[in-house]
Amino acid sequence: MTFVIAEKTIESLGIEEIAQFKGRIEHLQKEFYQHFSKGTGEIMIFRAPGRVNLIGEHTDYNGLPVLPMAINRDILIACRPRPDEVVDLYSLQEIQKAQFSISKEIAPSATGNWDNYVRAAAQALQRYVAGSSPLRSSLLKGFEGIVDGNIPPGSGLSSSSAMVVAVAVALADINQLKIEKKELADLCAKGERYVGTQGGGMDQAISVMGKKGYALKIDFFPLRTEATPLSSDYAFVICNSTVVAEKSGAAQRAYNQRTVECRLGVLLYKKDIREEKKEFYQRLGDIPSQDYGHFLNDLIDQDKYTLEAISRRTKVSMETIKKEYLTFSNGSIFHDYGESYQIRKRCRHVITEGQRVEDSKRVLFNGDFQKFGQLMDESFRSCALDYEISCPSIDRLIQICKSAGALGSRITGAGFGGCIVNLLDKKRVAFFIESVSREYYQNYLKKSREFWQSQILLSSACSGAGRLA
Ligand code: GLA
Repeated sequence: MTFVIAEKTIESLGIEEIAQFKGRIEHLQKEFYQHFSKGTGEIMIFRAPGRVNLIGEHTDYNGLPVLPMAINRDILIACRPRPDEVVDLYSLQEIQKAQFSISKEIAPSATGNWDNYVRAAAQALQRYVAGSSPLRSSLLKGFEGIVDGNIPPGSGLSSSSAMVVAVAVALADINQLKIEKKELADLCAKGERYVGTQGGGMDQAISVMGKKGYALKIDFFPLRTEATPLSSDYAFVICNSTVVAEKSGAAQRAYNQRTVECRLGVLLYKKDIREEKKEFYQRLGDIPSQDYGHFLNDLIDQDKYTLEAISRRTKVSMETIKKEYLTFSNGSIFHDYGESYQIRKRCRHVITEGQRVEDSKRVLFNGDFQKFGQLMDESFRSCALDYEISCPSIDRLIQICKSAGALGSRITGAGFGGCIVNLLDKKRVAFFIESVSREYYQNYLKKSREFWQSQILLSSACSGAGRLA
């Protein structure tokens, strides 16, 4: 194969940072030799972090910004290149292993299986190779390896995207592909739709491009990032509600339904737009801000719509609506059970949330963390009331965290369970943890005194994915 070595496309971490992974790397290497022969060839170690989104929820796929940071929870892969196209990957968390051959079209395994994230990354990179002329007919070489992670799954901290990114980084490095970080993030985002969730690109972008000490304001279509400074006087404390929101099943349907509701909002907006201009409006983020009031109050003239009602109002046939608004990029069609779509509330959340991200960037540059806390609180209200992605346990946890001194508290990630993120004055962190562990984990969840230790995470902003060894 004639791959070009990509210098510096995948950034290595600084020496002092790598030192903190020493114990985990040694453990992975030991596991590696228990599963695979000694053989020859070096063992490479790759890492991809999870993330916490500080503000900007469900805005990414609508073409509006987000503001996440990469965290100190991650996926590590120890692997050795193979001479053929086989990927043979054991997970220290899962019983089944991921084992398949890279081909032009990689078949998914059963819905909900973890190895679909591994396949998604391989498929995305194989498609990239197929689109690049000198390499068109090549197949990627695979690897044998061990994967380990410490991001609690289903907690809204992007464990699955970190898996996709870790495998993609490993394959890109092993095959010496020249891919810019932004392109890799885009490939991973598109690739992950392979599993059926219509996610935006936030999780993959921050996992690839995270920057130590900074949150990133990320814009989409096209992907752009802006490092936003954080202050060491304040801490972000992440608390897991322990309500698991899997990326498949009911939470996936609820997520996809939100994406459909937003698309239908765009359709309602386009009703009075001249035919030749309609194509410009693809997402809510394309609507000019001076039209927001008219859009939310006049163009969306009902609280709830059925698809038939939207078809009547917009004079667009049901068939076209299904084809253009209910069909996802992997070809699957959102199944309409005749329910009503709450378009005004959803669009109001997305539009106001996009504005809150812009405001947040400004206040963070000014070091005004009190104001940032207020924006986080407003964001949570909008997520809970308009986007309806909270649940009773999260509501309770938020109340407890606010009473314990959080300057701002909000759900993070897709929602329907998972984690919340709190902004705290550093001096108040110990008191905060004490109160939350007592009120939520002991009294509300009836767990042991020590349970909180595995559920409350403190993380500063970390670097994005890379090769550790
Ligand atoms: C999931 C998706 C992201 C984003 C968030 C909600 O994490 O993967 O793209 O849409 O939900 O903000």
